[in-house]
Amino acid sequence: MTVDQAAKLIIQGEVVAFPTETVYGLGADAKNPEAISKIYSLKGRPSDNPLIVHLSDTAQAEDFAELISADAKKLMAEFWPGPLTLILKKKPEVLDAVTSGLSTVALRIPDHPVALQLIRKTGPLVAPSANKSGRPSPTNADHVRQDFGNKFPVLDGGQTRVGLESTVLDISSRPYTILRPGKCSDKELSQVIDADIRYDLKKSGKPKSPGIKYSHYKPMAEVKWFHDDLKKYPQSSLLLSHDQKISGFDHHIHYDHDYNRMARELYDQFRNADLQKRTHVLIEPLPEQETDPIIRALKNRIEKAVSH
Ligand code: TXA
Ligand code: MG
Repeated sequence: MTVDQAAKLIIQGEVVAFPTETVYGLGADAKNPEAISKIYSLKGRPSDNPLIVHLSDTAQAEDFAELISADAKKLMAEFWPGPLTLILKKKPEVLDAVTSGLSTVALRIPDHPVALQLIRKTGPLVAPSANKSGRPSPTNADHVRQDFGNKFPVLDGGQTRVGLESTVLDISSRPYTILRPGKCSDKELSQVIDADIRYDLKKSGKPKSPGIKYSHYKPMAEVKWFHDDLKKYPQSSLLLSHDQKISGFDHHIHYDHDYNRMARELYDQFRNADLQKRTHVLIEPLPEQETDPIIRALKNRIEKAVSH
C-alpha cells in the first residue's frame, strides 16, 4: 500500500495502520467521530481510554490545545518530532471520542518519514498502538496483520526504531508528571524547561492516564523475572538476558547490555514466544542503575507483562 492509497482511505473515514519511530499506530481522522469509533471496536478498546493525536507540524497543536505555554513550546521545539507525547488542556471543540471526555488532550509528532508524509496529506490522526487491546504493541507490519488479519490496510515501514511506546508527559497542571516512561527521560525533559518532573505510574485509584489501569503488553506465555530459580522452568522457555550468559536453554537471546536493542525487540520476542507456543519467557532482572532512560521504560513494560 502506498502513502497516497492510505491517505485516501483515511480521508474516506477508514482506519489504516502506519509506522512511527516507537510502534505502529492505528490511524483515523482526528476530526471524524465515526472513523474514531471504528478504532475502539477494532481494538476492543475500553471507551474510557483516550487517544493520542498525531500531528505533522507544531502549528497544528493550536487546533487541539487551549493554551500552549512557554514550557510546552520549549518541549515541542526540542523533542518533536520524537517519542514524546504531551498532555495539554484541550480546546472545547476537540471530540469526546478522542479524549474520552477528559479536559485534556494528548499530542505528538512522530519521528518517522512515512508517518509524516501520511499526516501531511490527511491532517491530524488519532492513533493508538495497532494491536488488539491487551496484546503487545506491533513493531513491524506482520505484527499488525497477526492481530487484524492479512487483508488489513498497513503502510509497511519496516521495523520500528525505538520499539516501546512514547513517553507521556502531563503538563496540563503542576507538578508535571510522566504517566508512561519511554525513551525521553525526566532528566532530559527537566533540563529543557527547568522544572521538576515526577513519575506517576499508579495502577490503582483514579489513574491520571486511563491506559495505565488496563493490562497491557502481555504475550500468552508466562513472563517471569528469573533469579537463581532457572532450574524449575522448562528448557523450551525463551530466555532473555543482558548481563549473565546462561546455558541450558534452547532459546537464549543475550543482549550484552544493549538495552536499546532489547527495547526494539521485546514485543517481537513476546509475539514469537506465542507463535512458537512457548509456555514461559524468562527475563534477567534489569540493572538498578538506569544508565539509559530506555531501561526504566523496559522495566515498566516487562513488569506489566510479568505474571506474579
Ligand atoms: O508511541 C506511542 O505513543 C504510540 C504510537 C502509535 O504513537 N501510541 C500509543 O497509543 O501508544 P496508545 O493509545 O496505545 O497509548 C496512549 C496512552 C494511553 O495510556 C492513554 O491512556 C494515554 O496515552 N492518554 C491519551 N490521552 C490522554 C489524556 N488526555 N490524559 C492522560 N493520558 C492520556
Ligand atoms: Mg497501546
